[in-house]
Amino acid sequence: MDHDHDHDHDHDHDHHDHDHRMSQDGTTWRAMRTYLPRLRKFWSNDLNDAVVDLVAPSEGETLLDVGAGMGAATFEAARRVGRKGRVIAIEPTPFMRRMLAARRLGNRVRPRVTALDGRAEKLPVGTDMVAAAWAVNVLHHISDLDAAVVELRRVLRPGGRVVLVDEDFDDPTHPNHEEMKARHGHKHGDHEHLMIEIDDLGRAFESAGFRDVDARFDTIAGAPVRMLTAHLPGPAAG
Ligand SMILES: C[S@@+](CC[C@H](N)C(=O)[O-])C[C@H]1O[C@@H](n2cnc3c(N)ncnc32)[C@H](O)[C@@H]1O
Repeated sequence: MDHDHDHDHDHDHDHHDHDHRMSQDGTTWRAMRTYLPRLRKFWSNDLNDAVVDLVAPSEGETLLDVGAGMGAATFEAARRVGRKGRVIAIEPTPFMRRMLAARRLGNRVRPRVTALDGRAEKLPVGTDMVAAAWAVNVLHHISDLDAAVVELRRVLRPGGRVVLVDEDFDDPTHPNHEEMKARHGHKHGDHEHLMIEIDDLGRAFESAGFRDVDARFDTIAGAPVRMLTAHLPGPAAG
């Protein structure tokens, strides 16, 4: 896989009308408006660090960050897999992927990090490739949960583990509950976001053959979350 290539779909056909094209497409400006004010959080935060703890990377493992954003978990995990390990960061939004790719260039763990265009529902990753996969604050973006579960099952090795965590902004104890309510309406899931019910999440993984499926409300790094942990049958992946 090409470590430096950052596949973008919103450019390349017209080098003379850059600004016009970006505003026509909408993606880049919208992404900048959404994500730049929260740059610090997207760069690194306690929740992503805690998810990497839950994933428990081992030396030499190949890992997958689905909806990696700017790499808050990617780079933390890359530090923990050692020189022979690898982290594949999948990110569909060109702006986020560019930030991740730029960050990678300045990082000493860059040989271990691959940034690719893709989505949870169709992962650009080979079968039986990864020892563990996670997604932080991505569940509410997933439009086809069954497709995402099939894909996770496909790319994980036997014994492979999965950790999915979404902050639960519907929980009034969440520090950003009021802000998110103002931005997205009463329920986080009512607006552009789709919130998968916790029981449906567990059932989808169970019926796909995952073991020890635990879909639950919990608190991680001080934030109420909806989360799922599970693994595939087989020897512990490495
Ligand atoms: C709230 S951000 C979280 C980013 C990162 N995981 C973090 O915690 O900092 C959600 C990310 O999911 C990405 N995303 C949207 N739809 C997706 C999908 N279907 N599959 C994977 N990622 C998706 C977005 O582009 C965005 O970068």
